[in-house]
Amino acid sequence: MSIRTSIDLKLDPSCAFNALVGELSTALSELGMQFETGVHGHVMEGSTEVGRVIGWQPGEQIVLEWHGADWQPAEVATVELRFEPIEGGTRVTLEHPEWSSVLGDQGDELAGWFAGEVAAPLLRAMAPRRLGDWITDRRARRPSGAQARAFYRDPLYHRPNFKAILQVLALKRDDYLLEVGCGGGAFLEEALRSGCKAAAIDHSPEMVRLAREVNREAISQNRLEIREEEAHSLPYPDGTFTCAVMTGVFNFLQDPLKALSEIRRVLADGGRFVLFTASRELRGTPAAPEPIASRLYFYEDQELEELARKAGFDDAKWERPDFEQFAREVGIPEEMLELFKGRTGGQLLLARTKY
Ligand SMILES: C[S@@+](CC[C@H](N)C(=O)[O-])C[C@H]1O[C@@H](n2cnc3c(N)ncnc32)[C@H](O)[C@@H]1O
Repeated sequence: MSIRTSIDLKLDPSCAFNALVGELSTALSELGMQFETGVHGHVMEGSTEVGRVIGWQPGEQIVLEWHGADWQPAEVATVELRFEPIEGGTRVTLEHPEWSSVLGDQGDELAGWFAGEVAAPLLRAMAPRRLGDWITDRRARRPSGAQARAFYRDPLYHRPNFKAILQVLALKRDDYLLEVGCGGGAFLEEALRSGCKAAAIDHSPEMVRLAREVNREAISQNRLEIREEEAHSLPYPDGTFTCAVMTGVFNFLQDPLKALSEIRRVLADGGRFVLFTASRELRGTPAAPEPIASRLYFYEDQELEELARKAGFDDAKWERPDFEQFAREVGIPEEMLELFKGRTGGQLLLARTKY
């Protein structure tokens, strides 16, 4: 008895193959499995080889010799991932043709396995809570995938914010800057033009890779280091940096006080911190659309100040800059300028530690 699942994609078979192989490898790694791709590839679960590539035809199929049950070493099956041209695209099918050889052919056991391990997770993935979380992570909270990489390589709509931050931060050559949640590294690229040194963290592996690529020259000159880390536990000793920045990240944080306290801890005496975060007024606009908007934490201006003081900053004040001029300077299209007008485009928090 077989098990089969498929999706139709508007991609030609060779693009569908490349996209699926890349995404599958990333997704398996998040589940603690490794997919080494290519003709001599493997699928590993910890140190156990569960799949071995025995057929690798890009754009057509991948065939795996599959060991689904290491307690029954003789049970070896052939799992196929097929890419078949259909009108307007490609049908991708994953099939295990002999599934009953492991579970037996009792209908109720197979039904139980299918309901619990395939159908229920699939239905949950297609329901609002999980789907909204997936979209939020994929696009902004932990960006991944080709579209996110293209967006964060050159995040035009974030550049007005970068300009506002750089204006208040007034970087100098002898600054050592920390960016928390650096995304694809576009802000770092602009900040490093001041001649300063910098370090950055982000918890998205794909964003860390992209930010390193975008800033490869600064990294090779030892002016920049980027690490995959969480905002609430920064991997630096106390008093390391002269300044710090966080832009487009704060709305996602479940424990904002912890993150601010960490930034305070790693700042030296006289350190300055600039935070840009989306204001409540942006909820539901293209800057904070659903389903992302309802997963964001918004703050009143005064609340930001209070949080910074609680985190140990000696001085904190908020601003509502007019981003329109910055938006014009970076080339935001005329019809989108409205989003940046009228001091509702976002909140800036400026905080300091004492000398
Ligand atoms: C909307 S993007 C903004 C990226 C960049 N700062 C910019 O303005 O283009 C939010 C970024 O924050 C990162 N992020 C969110 N929560 C984080 C956390 N708890 N620790 C580290 N990075 C985080 C995400 O991975 C993502 O790259």
